[in-house]
Amino acid sequence: MSERKKVSLPALFKKMDDGEPITWLTCYDYPTAYFQEQAGIDMILVGDSLGMTMLGYDSTLPVTMSDMIRHTQAVRRGAPNAFLIGDMPYMSYQPSNETAVLNAGRFMAEAACDAIKLEGGAEMAPRVKAISNAGIPAFGHLGLTPQSASALGGFRLQGKGAQQAKKIVDDAKALEKAGAVGILLELVPDRLCKLITERSEGTIIMSLGSGPDAHGQLLIYHDLFGLYPKFTPRMAKVYGNAGEVILNGLKQYVAEVRDLSFPEKSNYFGMKDEEYEQLEAMIFKEEE
Ligand code: KIV
Repeated sequence: MSERKKVSLPALFKKMDDGEPITWLTCYDYPTAYFQEQAGIDMILVGDSLGMTMLGYDSTLPVTMSDMIRHTQAVRRGAPNAFLIGDMPYMSYQPSNETAVLNAGRFMAEAACDAIKLEGGAEMAPRVKAISNAGIPAFGHLGLTPQSASALGGFRLQGKGAQQAKKIVDDAKALEKAGAVGILLELVPDRLCKLITERSEGTIIMSLGSGPDAHGQLLIYHDLFGLYPKFTPRMAKVYGNAGEVILNGLKQYVAEVRDLSFPEKSNYFGMKDEEYEQLEAMIFKEEE
């Protein structure tokens, strides 16, 4: 198990102030969390993207708080020292400040999170304020916000035009004023991300597919390793094709069981002759 110090909010702010890029990945299960912890990742997001990457839904909308809590608990067990952020699922915060605070509190109390993330701009500033006032660090999420994919016209670049870009700039300020400790910019043009980062007054700005000029980078874990069979978005860099390795291994397993080359001697255990003879004698006696 890793012996590194727990990543705290002040440590993240220091990285931002020192110009040291912050590393962030999504994660949904214990073994992956273990590896991410060993790799020294700063922040982990248990994203509601697990609806697509882990549960096979076509969107994030069916994901529930129970789904999120269960996966977040597993991730915390694998990564005790990373800064852990729970992603508020659809309708866990939109209805009211009270719903938002109660569900954010569940992430902290039941899954040992360090912060939560929610989607939306100025209209969600009251939620961010209420959660922050309850002593829970909140991250905002602007640009492509998957819970609103239908309203946004699909999974596409946001803030291409000046009007829409200005709204994202204003939204970022509204979230900052409401007390957001960080804001994720997903799939906005690089110059818009740079502008928002330069105008930030102490809020950590993170980029997902929004270029290099934020305080750090986020990627979806499954995209790094070819583990999402439906597609790999352009914003992702593939660091290894684990999906291919797994598929080849599975095909080989199926073939080896069928042609009897698995299991090999090293994959199972024998029994001493005398014990086996005694066993046979006992059975024989019973059957007499
Ligand atoms: O659910 C998630 O993983 C996210 C990312 C797309 C940022 O919110």
